[in-house]
Order: sequence, then C-alpha cells, then structure tokens
Amino acid sequence: MKLRHALLAFAAATILGGQAYAANLSIVLGSTGKDEQVMRELLDKFEKDTGNKVQIVPMPSSTTDQFGQYKLWLAAQNSDIDVYQTDVIWAPQLANQLLDLTDAMKDVAKDHFPAIIESQTVNGKLVALPFFTDAPALYYRKDLLDKYGKQPPKTWDELTATAKEIQDKERAAGAKNLWGFVFQGNAYEGLTCNALEWVKSNGGGQIVEPDGSISINNPQAVKALELARTWINNISPPGVLAYQEEESRGVWQTGNAVFMRNWPYAYSLGNSGDSAVKGKFDVVPLPAGTGDGARSAATLGGWNLAVSKYSKNPDAAVALVKFLGSKDSQKYEAINASHLPTIQALYEDADIAAAQPIIPRWKEVFLNAVPRPSAPTKVKYNEVSNQFWTAVHKTLSGTGSAADNLAALEISLTKLKGSGW
Ligand code: GLC
Repeated sequence: MKLRHALLAFAAATILGGQAYAANLSIVLGSTGKDEQVMRELLDKFEKDTGNKVQIVPMPSSTTDQFGQYKLWLAAQNSDIDVYQTDVIWAPQLANQLLDLTDAMKDVAKDHFPAIIESQTVNGKLVALPFFTDAPALYYRKDLLDKYGKQPPKTWDELTATAKEIQDKERAAGAKNLWGFVFQGNAYEGLTCNALEWVKSNGGGQIVEPDGSISINNPQAVKALELARTWINNISPPGVLAYQEEESRGVWQTGNAVFMRNWPYAYSLGNSGDSAVKGKFDVVPLPAGTGDGARSAATLGGWNLAVSKYSKNPDAAVALVKFLGSKDSQKYEAINASHLPTIQALYEDADIAAAQPIIPRWKEVFLNAVPRPSAPTKVKYNEVSNQFWTAVHKTLSGTGSAADNLAALEISLTKLKGSGW
C-alpha cells in the first residue's frame, strides 16, 4: 500500500509538476470560523496540481496563543512546520526566522496593496506574502433597529443608548437572553484591537505613536475606557471579559445580541444556513467617540503566509505560499470565508461583490484602518500589547480606575522602552 502511494505520488509529481519528487509539507494556522475548512479546500487543489501533500496543523483561534507557540518552535529550529500563517503584527518579531520571499514574489508583489507589502517587509526583506487583510465592522440587527425606529449608531454614546433601550424592551417582551453589545474582552491581542478603536476613535491616540512616543496616558483615552467599563453587565454580558472572536460570534449568531464588533469573517457565517440571524443583519463602520479628533477607527488586522527558515522543502513551501496568495485563491477565500483580499483588482470583482457585498464596501475601511504600534515598537510589540490589554482588562473588570491604570501603564511602557524601542 505504502509503495503504491509512493509510486502514485511520484508519477503525479513527474507528470504534473515536472518535479523530481513530491514533497510533504505542513502549514500551521489558527482555527477561526471556517478558516481551516476553506484552507483545506485550497490545499486539495494545490495537491492535485502539484502532487505535493500538505497537512494542516491546527492551532487555537487566539493569535496570542499562536504567537507563543510559534516563538518556541522557531527558537527550537523546528523543521516540522514549513509554512506559518502569520498575523500582520508579527513581521518584525519573527523576521529573522523566516525566509526572504522578495525574489520569489517579485512578479506578484505589485498586485497587492503597497502598504500591506510594506508591513511585511523588514529591513528590505519580504518576510511574508499577504493572504487576507482585516478591518472590523459594527454588526447590527436590522430587524430590531427597524422595529424600534433606530438608525445604526454613529457614536459610542449612541450605541450605548440604543443597545440598552432595545435590550431592555426585548427582554421585557420575553427575549430573556438578549444582550445589547458583544465584543472581544478577553485578556489577549483581540482586546488590544478593540480598545485601540475606543481610544483612537475618541481622539486618544494609538498607544505608541509612529515616532515611538508613548501617548496612552491622556484624558481622551481615559474617557473612552471609562465608557467601555459601563458596558459590562449593563449592555454586555459579564462573560464578555472572557470572549474572543468566536465567543462573540456565538452569542450574535444565535440571535442574542443587538450589536457585535467583529471582523468580516463573521459576515459569511452569519448568513449561512444554520444562522439565526441570516438575512437579518447588516454592517457599518465602528462608531466614533466624541470631542477633539473623534472619528470612526478600525484596527488594521490581517494574515500572511511565511516560510520557515528551517523548512526542509523550501522550494515547495514557497510554491505553496505563492499559490495561496494568488488571485484565484484569494478570490476563493473572499467568496467562501468573506476574507478581505490583499490583491487590489479583486475589489472590482463582480462574483465577490455578489457573494459577499461587505467586501467592496470594506475597501475604504481597511485603507483607513489604524495600525497597532508594531512598527515603532519592533521586537517589543508583544510585550507592549500585553501591558496594554492587561491595563484595559483590569479597568473593565473594575480593578482600578482607567486613569490609575493608564498612568501605571505609561510608567511601565517607559521602562520597557528604555533608551529606545
Ligand atoms: C484578527 C486580525 C488579527 C488580530 C486578531 C486579534 O484575526 O486579523 O490581525 O491580531 O484578530 O484577535
């Protein structure tokens, strides 16, 4: 049996790819929504085209948990993983252990948004090919807002009031499990994304500014966090302090939330056959704060594909990355997982617009999205983010005021910065 498989694989590789042998590759990615399933479908196609085999190593959905594991594997020079799906914020931190893709991707890199390519370029080296980009939406229940004559909120104050009114009236009418607003309040990278939006949208800066200065301890940031604190156990369930993306989506998709902050992947899932909110919701950009510099702010997210320096099959691994990042694969991801493409032309694609109308609408949102301070803080980003989400989580949990927690954060970030990032 084994011999037969080997012969078949050899024949396939010779006939189809003209390669000397078929490689066994592995790719590691977090399992959020349908990510793993859609990836498997693409890999099946790659296997058929090339005769190579690709195994998925599934990881928890949390980007923070993935990062911790990948750091360990790379430090141990693990050669079992060929391709990593990498978060947009990791490039400077993992650059030394990833292959330089500049040459291999020189014909295709120009098709992607230049800013995303730039985010994955460290000291002139392209460390990962963009796979999809991300910018969150405010999901809202059209049916419920219509019923109460409300418009989608333009400010966080409006969101708070609308969420409360609809939640209370619906509960009185029997919808006992309904909550006004779900988001990602767990102590992890997702909370950094959410809280950066509250702060930036309220004119409170972006934690560490592009020039490296620490800006987080300011009155507008304090105000933004104080408002968020009032949501807990009022319009948001107490459990939200442990929610990541998938827990928020669970509450939302069973029809138990008026509003949800989440990434575009939740759009296709929300409209799937078994969803209680199918056809009942729409999306708008996140609300703005109030006061000077207030604007709607979306944190820039996204995922890329990188080849480990320790891969035993670097050529086949690079070919896999090129295949997954291609126009066809990104179109498949857009239609089946509502992932935002990084290839510019796909925003004009009629099939994508018809299948997932959020995608062409979200081009402007992600082009104006706010980056987390991973570029200025370089290899210290994860620690910066960890300190920020910890301060925010304490505030939301009622341990210390926002003012005290942000003042302490400023001191510890200053220490971390030392003489420079
Ligand atoms: C999404 C974003 C990613 C971010 C993560 C936080 O997956 O694409 O950039 O770090 O959410 O939970």
